[in-house]
Amino acid sequence: MKNISKIITAFLLLIITQSMMAQEHKARVLVLFYSDNGGTYELAKEISKGIETQGNVQAVIKQVKASTHPKLKDIPIASVEELSSYDGIAFGSPVYFGNISTGMSEFLSKTVGLWTTHALEGMPATVFMSAGSGAGKELAIQSFWNSLAVHGMVLVSNGIRGAENIDKNTPQGNTVLGVTSLASVKNVERPSESERYIARMQGENFAKIAAALKDIFPHKMTSENDIQEKTANINTVLKQKQIILPQVPKPAGNYQPYVRSGNLVFINQVALKDGKILNPGKLGLSLTEEQVKEATKVTMLNVLSVLNEALGGDLNRVKRCVQLTGIFNTKDDYTKHADLMNIASDLTVEVFGEKGKHARATFGASSIPVNSSVEIQAVFEVE
Ligand SMILES: Cc1cc2nc3c(=O)[nH]c(=O)nc-3n(C[C@H](O)[C@H](O)[C@H](O)COP(=O)(O)O)c2cc1C
Repeated sequence: MKNISKIITAFLLLIITQSMMAQEHKARVLVLFYSDNGGTYELAKEISKGIETQGNVQAVIKQVKASTHPKLKDIPIASVEELSSYDGIAFGSPVYFGNISTGMSEFLSKTVGLWTTHALEGMPATVFMSAGSGAGKELAIQSFWNSLAVHGMVLVSNGIRGAENIDKNTPQGNTVLGVTSLASVKNVERPSESERYIARMQGENFAKIAAALKDIFPHKMTSENDIQEKTANINTVLKQKQIILPQVPKPAGNYQPYVRSGNLVFINQVALKDGKILNPGKLGLSLTEEQVKEATKVTMLNVLSVLNEALGGDLNRVKRCVQLTGIFNTKDDYTKHADLMNIASDLTVEVFGEKGKHARATFGASSIPVNSSVEIQAVFEVE
């Protein structure tokens, strides 16, 4: 009996080890897209389905920048550094004037470092795009190919794959370079069934090529560990310094907790803690400097918590703190605002290091909303 259980255990261990090894040897394809309205994302999902029909290839969907679109807000954001760690990349973008969209173009312009270090050379790439009427759709894919060719990537076209099985009574976005969708041709839902089918075929074909070329060209790998380490960075700092971010305070009026404009995030907070203002009042009348400093720390933690939410929980995407403005409820003759504000500035540098150094303004006010002793306005540049 004992022997049988030993044999079963050994057999199970063998299966587990083999499946772990198979996982390790899987090719990984990044499906990297930008989308305004979600059409490109729909194609990205079909491309991924096609990729995963190949048991030896895993698809990873990411977008190039954060989006507030409900369909897109929870999709992870790719970093430039991680691109070289994949075995192939399927790029997706809307068509803008027969060209790549601005969002994708911005991301590609950050890959100069990868280009000059030959990091993507020999890696397979394929392109899919969401168009409106379809005007200039092949031109757009071709212009996308220009950038990928400069990187030395192996460009994988789609040919007329699947064309015999599509609905020819309705205009379709298939092209020999890669699939597109005709989002503004609305007689059927877009992407149409035929466009989705071509996208899956493109993904399937691309996965075969990525698997075949895996390990042929040694990439300058940014290993998965490096990537995880990078994203764990600020979280580790917070943990080491025992800094706990509070719940994101709810807006008390007709405004947003933050606004992102381009790469800048704007945030304003007061000393709200657990639903109440910490140490309310005026410095010099009802409050000491120590109490205002305590309120300043709480206020800055609120700012960081909102920033964390604006960045989808990844504070590593902070490029720098641009400016902090501290407003303090003080008596008219008070002059040591800078000492109070240092609490917020020190905390910012403690969390973000060099990136936390910022320009600063401080001033006194005769009153601050909800009787907070302090308000902080913050501007951060983010990825
Ligand atoms: C600035 C701009 C330029 C565009 N140019 C074209 C174009 O040349 N050809 C086309 O077919 N659609 C064009 N469109 C439409 C988009 O490609 C289309 O709405 C696309 O489906 C958006 O993809 P998304 O749903 O992933 O955001 C353009 C849209 C914008 C905003």
